[in-house]
Amino acid sequence: MNKNISQAKSLKGEITVAADKSISHRAVIFSALARGKSVIRNLLQAEDIQSTCRCMKDLGADIQEINNTLIINGGGLQGLKEPDRVLDCGNSGTTMRLLTGLLSAQSFFSVLAGDHSLNHRPMRRVIEPMQLMGAELQGRQGGNYPPLAIKGKKLKGIEYLSPVASAQVKTTIMLAALNADGVTEIWEPEKSRDHSENMLAAMGASIKVDGLRIHLQPGKELSAQEFQVPGDISAAAFFLVAATIVPGSELKIYNVGVNPTRTGIIDILQQMGANIKLENQRTIGGEIMADIIVTAAQLKGVKIAGEVIPRLIDELPVLAVAMAVAEGESEVREAGELRIKETDRIAAICSELGKMGVAITELEDGFRIKGKEQPLKGAKVDSHGDHRIAMSLAVAALVAEGETTISNAGAVDISFPTFWDTLDKISR
Ligand code: S3P
Repeated sequence: MNKNISQAKSLKGEITVAADKSISHRAVIFSALARGKSVIRNLLQAEDIQSTCRCMKDLGADIQEINNTLIINGGGLQGLKEPDRVLDCGNSGTTMRLLTGLLSAQSFFSVLAGDHSLNHRPMRRVIEPMQLMGAELQGRQGGNYPPLAIKGKKLKGIEYLSPVASAQVKTTIMLAALNADGVTEIWEPEKSRDHSENMLAAMGASIKVDGLRIHLQPGKELSAQEFQVPGDISAAAFFLVAATIVPGSELKIYNVGVNPTRTGIIDILQQMGANIKLENQRTIGGEIMADIIVTAAQLKGVKIAGEVIPRLIDELPVLAVAMAVAEGESEVREAGELRIKETDRIAAICSELGKMGVAITELEDGFRIKGKEQPLKGAKVDSHGDHRIAMSLAVAALVAEGETTISNAGAVDISFPTFWDTLDKISR
């Protein structure tokens, strides 16, 4: 699908955004492992979560949808059964990595596979800790690429110093650790999103978090919960940047999750001069939610690296758009992780924003942008089949002269199927 976008005069209105993808995956998986009836309200309705639900149903989970609410009757930590087909994770890296942990510690055989993009994403980061726990898994190219074949067995707890700040890696280990013999401890080099830790604590697991260290003692059943999934800050980010850079804009976004491990985008946009205010903050199910008000502002360039990177990793493509219209030079470093997302996001954003006239230079672990070198111009650009690249290019198109055509724009269905309608609703 192609999408044509023209320059916007202003963006005005009140919106909600897609529900949090990370929390939605976890709510489905942990509920299936709990004992009893969990209720999940406002679960993300998008392809990645359909992938997780499909796999969990193939594993025998009792999942029903009633009036947009998901009801899961969990059968406990050992309540799943051997699937009689390959588990199809679609485009979802979170589904594949988290299920690798879960399935390594079950008592049956299973195979995980994905689409072309996912089958070329590295899995060694989760295979290695699983093997240290005693797991038996195989994959293509020495175990690094899917499909993955897993012969589940009893695992032992480990102490693991993760080489990457990755919530997927730590959650994979935690899911295996729930069914292992002995304690597991995980250290991260920097703090990544902590939704799994919050959820496991709320469900009664024996988990302690002390800064960058997680301590998990197996043996306790998880108790069923009622979940209310907040709006995804990674989806809100497109509108935070759009309303900041389109002159005269004023937007209110309701019910956005503002867990501090996810709010790097707000911190950096504010540092660049954005007008972003949080209202009505409240905590629901261990997660903080707020309404966010954003009005247009002139931005200045910024240089970022280090601990903030995991706190805004998925927002870097759209942050590049903000940097393109900011006064002065901006730089993103220590973000090499971007190269192994749904596509190589460093290469993709550099090539596509380059077509729109942005002075962007590709670096090994990030990019450098000379802001406002020339006005952005409409162009024919491509999403590379990546949802976040598609939406970032749409935001760039709102401030570009003339029309922009985005090919493979249907990729937004992975995380935010109502993105185009929401954009239409607020564009003046
Ligand atoms: C996610 C963690 C991040 C993020 C991804 C979702 C999660 O990946 O980029 O979109 O839900 O755990 P990494 O764990 O690879 O950093």
